Amino acid sequence: MSDTITVTDNRTGKTYELPITDGTVRAAEFRQIKTSADDFGLMVYDPAFKNTASCRSAITLIDGEKGILRYRGYPIEQLAEKSTFLEVAYLLLNGELPTKEEHDDWVNEVTHHTYIHEFLTRAMEGFKYDAHPMAMMVSFLGALSTFYKEAKNVRDAAVRREHIIKIIAKMPTLAAWCYRHATGRPYIYPDNSLSYTGNFLNMLFRMAEPKYEPHPVLERTLDVLFILHADHEQNCSANAARAVGSAETDPYCSLAAAAAALYGPLHGGANEAVLRMLRRIGSVKNIPDFIKGCKAGEHRLMGFGHRVYKNYDPRARVIKGLAHQVFTFTGRNPLLDIALELEKIALNDEYFVKRKLYPNVDFYSGLIYQSMGFPVEMFPVLFAIPRAAGWLSQWQEMLTDKEQRIARPRQIYTGSDVRDYVEMADRGKGSAS
Ligand code: SDX
Repeated sequence: MSDTITVTDNRTGKTYELPITDGTVRAAEFRQIKTSADDFGLMVYDPAFKNTASCRSAITLIDGEKGILRYRGYPIEQLAEKSTFLEVAYLLLNGELPTKEEHDDWVNEVTHHTYIHEFLTRAMEGFKYDAHPMAMMVSFLGALSTFYKEAKNVRDAAVRREHIIKIIAKMPTLAAWCYRHATGRPYIYPDNSLSYTGNFLNMLFRMAEPKYEPHPVLERTLDVLFILHADHEQNCSANAARAVGSAETDPYCSLAAAAAALYGPLHGGANEAVLRMLRRIGSVKNIPDFIKGCKAGEHRLMGFGHRVYKNYDPRARVIKGLAHQVFTFTGRNPLLDIALELEKIALNDEYFVKRKLYPNVDFYSGLIYQSMGFPVEMFPVLFAIPRAAGWLSQWQEMLTDKEQRIARPRQIYTGSDVRDYVEMADRGKGSAS
């Protein structure tokens, strides 16, 4: 027995022995399978990359069948219980948990890069009061690149590290100021005496009080949510960060692309879509009709299903527990009853069971955000803040991977064969079409 597969091309009768490495066969191996010397050779076709590994990565492991998620080998449940978001960001980026000195230096560096250039406040005024904050975040990530021209030196490790810190530090400031813009309130500047999430709450919610005191329950809840959302291997937005970054685009614009991908309702925008769905259902008695609509393909059960998890998303389990803690402080969110009943019905309904559709990270998170006072439009932004650490880890790993090149997939051409230009006067006479 050997770690190979033997394929026979029945067009030619030739057989080929292709090596298996890490449970994969290199797509390039199929190019040798030709019918003639001038044949391009076989490609593999995999729309949406459902069965394609695009890279080797040591950052995050997901076992979809078992519902396992680990950052650099550490189970997400342990990190959610024992760690902090900034420590997890360090872990994702550096591969190891920091020593106390490394941790304190890291926190100090992030804390002292939370300010953004005042010119950005002028740019913010260019947005309508009801501009979606996620679209603003996409814009401001790109805009930030105009202040740091040297960030283009993506092959310089020191430059990468400098701007990784800036981005992680500035995400909460950008997000909070988008919220303050939408609510017509003055921007609150960072308070470096507060924690990462405490300062974020300060910039969001401080009003006339001379010093904002974040409530410890909310501060810790946000920190745990940020840990849970920090990375998730090759999801749609991480793929965007890697693809755009593979062209040696600076990290700010690479993350603008990632944020744009996360904004989609099938991805990070699902937490917003879940809240809107629960509001639309309105009452437990309307759930059967809604489920019927799902099965008829009229709409999706947002917050359910996952490309990789074919079991309960471990993050959703932690968030569900967190929700009960937060509601003891904020008061029970009435939509929780609809969410719990929806989950109970869906987990026992053949349509969802057969398709292995379980609650994902977005199903319960919105209920917490709403109870904490966030408007629903801010939900994807709350996903983007911590995911910046994951995107930057993936971006950095791609740049230091000697196998990687500019991302440029091939295609199966289904268009017209060669044809001659048709003058305007001769068009529409049937022959041209
Ligand atoms: C995130 O990739 C990541 O890791 C993402 C993420 C991360 O941390 O980065 O985990 C974050 O994006 C979580 C997912 C949030 N999205 C949603 O909650 C939106 C609702 N869920 C889906 O639309 C869907 O489940 C996806 C997009 C998440 C996954 O889609 P796939 O893997 O492409 O599956 P599919 O669309 O091919 O669906 C397979 C079948 C279909 O039915 P059939 O054609 O077989 O009859 O399952 C059905 C779908 O109609 N289906 C659903 C459903 N999700 C899939 N039916 C009803 N409700 C749903 N939510």
